[in-house]
Amino acid sequence: MHQGRTTLSKFLIQQLQGSPEQNDLAALMVDIAACVKAISAMTSKGMLGDVLDSLDSTNVHGETQKKLDVLSNAVFINTFSMGGLVAGLASEEVDIPRYIDARDGKGRFLAIFDPLDGSSNIDVNVSVGSIFSVLRAPEGRTPKPEDYLRPGSEQLAAGYALYGPATMLVITVGKGTHGFTLDREVGNFILTHPNIEVPADTSEFAINASNERFWEPPIQRYVAECKAGKNDVRGRDFTMRWIASMVAEVHRILMRGGVFMYPRDMKDPGKPGRLRLMYEANPMTMVIEQAGGLGSTGRARILDVIPEDIHQRVPVILGSSNEVERIERYHRDYDSGTDQRYTSPLFQERSLFAN
Ligand code: AHG
Ligand code: MN
Ligand code: MN
Repeated sequence: MHQGRTTLSKFLIQQLQGSPEQNDLAALMVDIAACVKAISAMTSKGMLGDVLDSLDSTNVHGETQKKLDVLSNAVFINTFSMGGLVAGLASEEVDIPRYIDARDGKGRFLAIFDPLDGSSNIDVNVSVGSIFSVLRAPEGRTPKPEDYLRPGSEQLAAGYALYGPATMLVITVGKGTHGFTLDREVGNFILTHPNIEVPADTSEFAINASNERFWEPPIQRYVAECKAGKNDVRGRDFTMRWIASMVAEVHRILMRGGVFMYPRDMKDPGKPGRLRLMYEANPMTMVIEQAGGLGSTGRARILDVIPEDIHQRVPVILGSSNEVERIERYHRDYDSGTDQRYTSPLFQERSLFAN
């Protein structure tokens, strides 16, 4: 046993001492850690756990649910319902936000979460995760659906769990981004990655390249330049990664830099992107920004987007600051007509993209 290790609880007591709200926030983080341990135990059993199958049900996005999506969702809902800290919750797997009749009537927070991200990977034994976001609940009354629709800049805390070869919990309460590794035998999360910093520069990008023909010109330009490598404008070679598990991609970027893109595309013009603002983009952007990176739609800071629907989708460009700024510049060039190569033939299409 290592001496002097910092457990999650000790770390939270040190970071969040003071007001009653801060104490409750520390307690909520400990509740979330308990959920993560339970889900980690389920995912790590693999086929032996009888939890990998698909169900007949679909969620609000029309996606077929896996048994583990539903079980992970239940773990969070049960914990928050019993915990007395949360006044209401919203989840990828819950159609309408649910209000919790907290036993003491004093839940200070709204919890919003993706209980199992990357669940299309679960049957091939690739890393999956959970993502969470914490907002302040309205005082003295039951939360209404519109109370959840706050911009990501108002999140009190955010983070994710990564169920990989090791289970990790990465959190921010607005004072940097910090990573903890689960010591499975003892059951403690131990601080292993304090004050994570995303390098400003990178030579690694992540995007589902099968959608290339549906991308907007600024993204086509960026990826084409990366692929052209050191004899072209970028002056260096890039490499590409795609795990199809946002948690695993964001974790890689936190550890060694990179840029992750799920941009707006024309595959289904009714959907402004694949990922969801409230329980994927916002919490991951807070984690990345607190580590010195940036999160953008290409045209706006993700954390400044005013939500209109709890399940709304948003374009996501996340990671090393110099690359995200470059991609934002390419969007400005395109929108203003500055870049002739990528503007003129598609000029008419621009009006389709509102933000
Ligand atoms: P979820 O499993 O919660 O529905 O989210 C999966 C997301 C995200 O993890 C990943 O980045 C993306 O979907 C993968 O999309 P593609 O299948 O288009 O690659
Ligand atoms: Mn997800
Ligand atoms: Mn999910």
